[in-house]
Amino acid sequence: MPTAAAMAGSGTRPKPVYELTNVAKTYAAGEVRALEGVSLTVREGEFHSVIGSSGCGKSTLLKIMAGLTPPSKGRVILSGTPVTGARPDIGMMFQQATLFPWRTTLQNILLPIQIREGKRAAAAARSRAAALMELVGLKGFESAYPAQLSGGMAQRAAICRMLVTEPRMLLLDEPFSALDEITRDFMNMELQRICLERSASAFLVTHSIAEAVILSDVVHVMSARPGRIARSIAIDLPRPRTLEMATLPAFGAYVSEIRNLLDKGAFL
Ligand SMILES: Nc1ncnc2c1ncn2[C@@H]1O[C@H](COP(=O)(O)OP(=O)(O)O)[C@@H](O)[C@H]1O
Ligand SMILES: [Mg+2]
Repeated sequence: MPTAAAMAGSGTRPKPVYELTNVAKTYAAGEVRALEGVSLTVREGEFHSVIGSSGCGKSTLLKIMAGLTPPSKGRVILSGTPVTGARPDIGMMFQQATLFPWRTTLQNILLPIQIREGKRAAAAARSRAAALMELVGLKGFESAYPAQLSGGMAQRAAICRMLVTEPRMLLLDEPFSALDEITRDFMNMELQRICLERSASAFLVTHSIAEAVILSDVVHVMSARPGRIARSIAIDLPRPRTLEMATLPAFGAYVSEIRNLLDKGAFL
């Protein structure tokens, strides 16, 4: 299957999944301008990242895309319809795995289905959840409690919980930033594999330049206060990406381009 980037190159661009037009957000009765003039398009199967300093509005942008908070201005369209609240076609993941300690790993993973569709639907989805656990290397931990999982395993369980409703769009807010670097590298490759296997699109908030470059088709560099997209950089590296690609001159060039933007222009 050709990658989204390759298809873009051949002139047959995949369909837009997300279309944001001129999105702005102010908090505290207009006193905090968190976001301004954000326009972007995520197409089917594409992986986008947004990178920027702490407090520049990344989480705000993600929450608006998820329908968890309304924009003050602008339009958010997902698969042709405006986002006005939480949607079943979106899967979300945060920095902390936030598993319930009194539920087993499998029960935690099935929770979104139980909440939306009830206990019977959750029971019917057990084999799908077990298959997901196998996909992320958690086979055998179905009845383990969160306290018995390592940080990386808990995040993998959170990935399963995000995927169990089969969303086509993944919204990720620094999902691996609490993990050690080796686990994080591994999780990044897992995330890529899962996205490619399921043709899912993804939008990742990160403050790791290397993570943004290795995973993304497009990296949006944000400026601070109010948060704007200073530059959107297409990452033209072949897929599947490998960790070894971090040694390529092209990879290094993308990293320094983004670092330069963050060091000066993005903050003007
Ligand atoms: N619920 C809120 N009420 C008021 N201000 C907020 C709220 N959420 C975020 N902010 C402010 O908006 C700005 C952007 O925050 P956030 O989107 O969390 O940034 P990031 O995720 O990039 O660190 C910050 O100045 C933050 O203090
Ligand atoms: Mg944040």
